[in-house]
This record gives sequence, structure tokens and C-alpha cells, in this order.
Amino acid sequence: MTTGLDGIVAAETVMSLVDGQRGVLVIRGMAVEEAARRLDFEGLLALLWDGFADTADLKPRLGAARAAAFRHTPRLLPAAAGLPPVDGLRAMIAGLADDADGSPIGLVAAMPVFLAALVRQAKGKHPVAPDPRAGHAADLLRMLADKPADPASVRALDAYLVTVADHGLNASTFAARVVASTLAGTVASVTAALCALKGPLHGGAPGPVLDMLDAIGTAQAAPGWIEAELAAGRRLMGFGHRIYRTRDPRADVLKAVVAGLSSPRIALAEAVEKAALAALHQHKPDRPLDINVEFYTALLLDAVGLDRSLFTPAFAVGRVAGWTAHILEQEQTGRLLRPDSRYVGPGASLAA
Ligand code: ACO
Repeated sequence: MTTGLDGIVAAETVMSLVDGQRGVLVIRGMAVEEAARRLDFEGLLALLWDGFADTADLKPRLGAARAAAFRHTPRLLPAAAGLPPVDGLRAMIAGLADDADGSPIGLVAAMPVFLAALVRQAKGKHPVAPDPRAGHAADLLRMLADKPADPASVRALDAYLVTVADHGLNASTFAARVVASTLAGTVASVTAALCALKGPLHGGAPGPVLDMLDAIGTAQAAPGWIEAELAAGRRLMGFGHRIYRTRDPRADVLKAVVAGLSSPRIALAEAVEKAALAALHQHKPDRPLDINVEFYTALLLDAVGLDRSLFTPAFAVGRVAGWTAHILEQEQTGRLLRPDSRYVGPGASLAA
């Protein structure tokens, strides 16, 4: 019996197809490579929500919703003081009511606004108000730094947000759908998703990827460091995936984006990637382990100026597109998600 729900189909979805054997990700009919090339975050959101929510004038409406979210910061920020950013974001999102500001568009809008306000609060600075006319990615960078971001960083962050927006029934999306299936509402469902995203086996990996690169230090040190890590029974962050038996296609989308940015870590990262793939092949010859989305996510987010403590909440800024789409889809089915368990404790004979 499997204890990780591997291979179990828990929902039918029109949102995305993940082919783990071939390394293919299709988002509502569009390959992830094409989506990252052609769409900005708002375009991808419209694609996901098509037929489930109003997608007309999404860019200005999302901008207006960011302004509405900002009006909640004086009330919600104090409760998040002192928490790590991902926990602060969860606390602030959970503090929204089930009204227009806690609707799918309200929650998508709130993520960058609350994240930027949290970061600035931690530095003793006032939050910067959103610019409703700006693009979502550009506005996040502007609210963080209190100055407009350079176009290359905006394009890179947009490509990142599109690339991670949806990915089948991953742990956080499943958590969102379970809660949505109880009809608890969008705020509760997105809060549950944020809880699931936090863990290092899911959205918490890219920060540790950068820690790993720092610990390795030089390309020459990579093979020895990796061998020692695997010998000690530890996992390499940014490698392996529950579904993919080949390269995660999102990794190459992000690797290409990173190549266009000036990341001081790119040469080291490529050396670590090469050494890790060779070592993992030796370590687990029967289990193809390859790079996952988190590895080049770390380099991309670092290159656009985000601190590593912000990598998981930045993931949420993109993935909330998928969460809300799945919540809307789940609510349409009207069916409670309620799997079975198999009792293996004492007294089973009492039921015979
Ligand atoms: N480094 C070393 N060994 C690994 C790694 C890794 N990164 N990933 C898997 N393995 C090993 C496992 O220890 C396991 O060995 P065992 O059978 O001796 O215990 C074997 O390979 C098979 O593991 P899987 O069943 O494929 O792993 P699972 O599906 O349970 O886990 C996961 C997938 C959690 C992503 C895992 O690969 C991992 O921990 N990777 C590192 C963390 C990471 O990068 N997380 C981000 C994932 S991407 C995302 O969520 C957006």
C-alpha cells in the first residue's frame, strides 16, 4: 500500500497536465515554455480563470484589488510582526474576511501587497502603496524597493510567476481543494495552501538551494561536498520530484531566464547541477533523479533582488493563481473530498 497517495486521482481538472515521464507541463492547453514566453502573470491568470471567474479587464481590476488590499495593511501588519515572511503572509491572508477583498481576485492581489509590507516592516520602513496601473510583477518589485524595477528584472519575475502558477495536484493545491470542498471559502482554502507550501519538501526548498551553493563555495568543491552530503543520508535541495522521472521542464524555462540576468552564481550553479546529477545517478541508479523547479528559482529570485527568506512567499505570489483556479473548479463540483484510511491499530477484530 502507498502512503503518499502516489498515482491516486483525487480530482478531474482542466487547469494543468503534468506528464512526469516525458517532462511536460501543459497549462490549459499551453506548454509551460510557450506560456512563459508569451504571457505575463495577468495573462496566465486570465487563462486559468477562463470560464470560472470574470477575466475582463483583469490587469486594471487586479491593480484596483491591490489598492484595496493595501487598505488592510494597518490592521493586519501588527499581527505579523516578528514572524518569518511566509508565516507573516499566512497570518495576514487569514485575517481577510470572506467579502470582496477575500475573493479570488482579492487574494491574488493581496499576496504581493502584504509580502512587500511585511518585508518593509521588518526593516523598520513604511509600506509602499501599490500602483494600480502597474503590472503585478513590476508592482511587487516597486513596493519592495520603493523605486521602479529595471525591465529585465520585471520580465524575469513575470516569467517566474507564470512558470510556477499551476502544477497539477501538488501538495498546496490539494490542500486548497480539500478545504474548498468543505465550502469553507476562498480565504480559508488559500490559507491552507500557504500552510502546505511552507515545508522544505514543497515550496520551502529554494532558500536552502542558495544555502547549499554558499556552503559549496566553488565549482571544484562541488563533487566532494555532494558525495559527503549523500553519504550522510541528506537530500540535495532542488533535486528530485514526486512526479517527474526526468527533468522538470520548469527548471529549463527558469535556467534560460537566469542566463539573461547577471547572476554571480550561475557558473557555480551549473557546476553543482552537473556534479549532483552524476552523484545522484550513482547513489540511486534505479530512481532517475534530476533537477526540479526550485534550483533555478533560487538563482532567479536572488538575481532580481529578493532575499532568500522571501523565496517561499514569492512562490505563493505566483501559485495563488493556480490555487484560486482550483478552488473555483472544486467548488463547482460540489463534492466533499474525503478519502479512506486503512486501520492498522489494535482492536480491528471488534469491527468484524
Ligand atoms: N537528494 C538525495 N536523494 C533523494 C532526493 C534528493 N533531492 N530526492 C529523492 N531522493 C531519494 C530518496 O531519499 C529516496 O531514497 P530511499 O528510497 O532510499 O528513501 C529515493 O530518492 C526516491 O525518492 P522519491 O520517492 O522519488 O521521493 P519523494 O517523491 O518522496 O520526494 C521530493 C520528492 C520531496 C521532492 C524529494 O525529491 C526531495 O526531498 N527533494 C529535495 C527537496 C526539494 O527540492 N523540494 C522541492 C520539490 S519541487 C516543489 O515542490 C515545487
